[in-house]
Amino acid sequence: MKILVATQKPFAKAAVDGIRKIAEENGHTLALLEKYPGEAELIAAVADADALIVRSDKVTAAVVEAAKKLKIVVRAGAGFDNLDLAACTAHNVVAMNTPGQNSNAVAELAIGLMIYMNRNQFTPGTGSELKGKTLGIQAYGNVGRLVGKLAMGFGMNVIAFDPYLPNEKIEATGAKVAPSLEALYENSDFVSLHIPATPETKGSIGRNLVGRMPKGACLINTARKEVINEAELFDLMSEREDLRYVADVAPERAAEFAEKFGKRYFGTPKKMGAETAEANINAGLAAANQICKFFATGDRTFQLNK
Ligand code: 3PG
Repeated sequence: MKILVATQKPFAKAAVDGIRKIAEENGHTLALLEKYPGEAELIAAVADADALIVRSDKVTAAVVEAAKKLKIVVRAGAGFDNLDLAACTAHNVVAMNTPGQNSNAVAELAIGLMIYMNRNQFTPGTGSELKGKTLGIQAYGNVGRLVGKLAMGFGMNVIAFDPYLPNEKIEATGAKVAPSLEALYENSDFVSLHIPATPETKGSIGRNLVGRMPKGACLINTARKEVINEAELFDLMSEREDLRYVADVAPERAAEFAEKFGKRYFGTPKKMGAETAEANINAGLAAANQICKFFATGDRTFQLNK
């Protein structure tokens, strides 16, 4: 079988080498399409691929349609808002992700961004410590739980809101449960977002929530830019000169945010939460193993389009 790795944002070399080794040991061949300019190149490359590994690359209906031999696509990572699951299902393509494999990298970055913001973006001036501050975590999945664990190591109070988790599971980690999403924002010096981008969450983080945060609070977004209501956040930060926003998924209006809010805003130029060799290796190799297992035994663990 031919496995295509298509990554506009390439994996670390060690990850690619590892994926190739797994593919070849299982009797498959590997093709690589990196830093490609757009959909047309992906469409051409998938034409004869039996399996596809991507990161945030958009697997649209047109891509799936063009991939006449495709049987499985694996998003090496957690969020799968880049996959057209309906198109995959319509063409009998199994779609999977690799949950948890790159979570530590994202969690470490969320903590790093908090420190960066509390230390004047590493410019002269008096900063403040994380110890004793309250971190609210919206969605306590693989990344959220790790952020909580690291934050507790810094001596932060951690509260979490996750409607899909029983309270006992949250409390077992040492975090407190926020009785509502509104309460999470009202009681947190920092809120870290770990929700996926879905029709329900897109544009859901705006004035009604961020406006409840206490003086000097900071919103951290290592999830997806689409979950933010940018217009509302921009207006709110214009009105309240204490609020801060830091993101590894810069807003559409990043230049305006940077110009207007100075050190109260920071966005990384590229999404970089999962940009570590370890995360690339964990997620890339997991994707390769899942594909080989699927071809060998029909295993569909982590299938998204059931
Ligand atoms: C994910 O959903 O796994 C993360 O956002 C990482 O995405 P990336 O592989 O595009 O860096």
